[in-house]
Amino acid sequence: MILVTGGAGFIGSNFVLDWLTQSDEPVLNLDALTYAGNTDNLASLAGDPRHVFVRGDICDRALVDRLFAEHRPRAVVHFAAETHVDRSIHGPAEFIRTNVQGTFTLLEAARAHWSSLAAAEKAAFRFLHVSTDEVYGTLGRDDPAFCESDTYEPNSPYSASKAASDHLVRAWHHTYGLPVLTTNCSNNYGPFHFPEKLIPLMIVNALAGKPLPVYGDGQQVRDWLYVKDHCAAIRGVLARGRVGETYNVGGWNEKPNLEIVHAVCGLLDELKAHPEGPYARLVTHVADRPGHDRRYAIDASKIERELGWRPAETFESGLRKTVRWYLDNAVWVERVQNGAYREWVSTQYGSPAA
Ligand code: NAD
Ligand code: TYD
Repeated sequence: MILVTGGAGFIGSNFVLDWLTQSDEPVLNLDALTYAGNTDNLASLAGDPRHVFVRGDICDRALVDRLFAEHRPRAVVHFAAETHVDRSIHGPAEFIRTNVQGTFTLLEAARAHWSSLAAAEKAAFRFLHVSTDEVYGTLGRDDPAFCESDTYEPNSPYSASKAASDHLVRAWHHTYGLPVLTTNCSNNYGPFHFPEKLIPLMIVNALAGKPLPVYGDGQQVRDWLYVKDHCAAIRGVLARGRVGETYNVGGWNEKPNLEIVHAVCGLLDELKAHPEGPYARLVTHVADRPGHDRRYAIDASKIERELGWRPAETFESGLRKTVRWYLDNAVWVERVQNGAYREWVSTQYGSPAA
């Protein structure tokens, strides 16, 4: 089996669902169920013996050791993290705890387990660390896209904590020989995306007739990748990536935020027209994010060349699927918005985590 951390979050849950449609290899899913963890995302796996869910913290060394000993996973795919830049600005401590201390704890537990394995299992073991393009910092308008050898220049508490975790992963390979892989991916979008991030926030606010808050001039550029393409890239890196290497993953889809917001509005106009007129009437420019990175862009040629991965979706096809998903899953949205998605945590465990 494989151990997935953070498998109740946005990308992690997409990955678990995707994995179990591609293979029968079981998944041990370790997730603390913070506000970002949502077991509704995994509802279609209820009763499936291939999915073992454990609510727990990656900083809990005793728990992680016990899971390694009991389940003997052949690989770790590490998604668990605090991920929202705006939250990291208001409260960085939790980012340092989970992203840095948590990754350290997981690396140490993985190293102890890996060291105890027989030669063949030891050689086959993998620790795949899922990271972000934000570690590279910000680009000028005409700079070339980020490639794997670029220097790390993180600018937000979130990206600094992810950069720190990337460095730990690298060092655990260099020093101890742990067979690690790292992926640095651009902005994902798709089903189960928590509506604090740009695309789902714009969809749910537009449908509720609320303002669509665009930070500053809205000309900040991000590269966007449909989440299932990211999951396919991770599967490819896990299966065929060269140990110790990092792979940049992106969609060749650089777009300014304002264009994204207008694209969402245009799709909603087409699929669920509002009697009061186009959704773009709700666009509202608000104060910029402090330290806001101006541009991210990914050069994904290494993963394409070495592993033959290419995104299957264009931005147009992926965004259409995403908007459709939010329209078809009003109950999921409603339960996220009214907090009902956390009821399972209280019923099951007494009290929700922070
Ligand atoms: P998310 O915020 O949706 O989910 C994070 C998950 O981790 C949640 O289920 C949460 O409960 C869990 N978690 C948090 N703290 C934990 C802890 N201490 N112990 C155990 N579980 C804990 O995040 P996401 O958007 O799915 O991102 C997943 C990973 O991918 C992160 O490492 C992130 O840095 C990386 N990434 C995200 C994007 C993106 O666009 N969302 C892009 C590139 C890389
Ligand atoms: P976000 O989805 O938070 O991802 P990240 O900051 O990790 O790239 O934001 C994407 C871009 O959208 C980023 O430039 C900030 C901007 N943004 C807004 O303009 N308004 C919003 O309400 C949000 C959440 C983000």
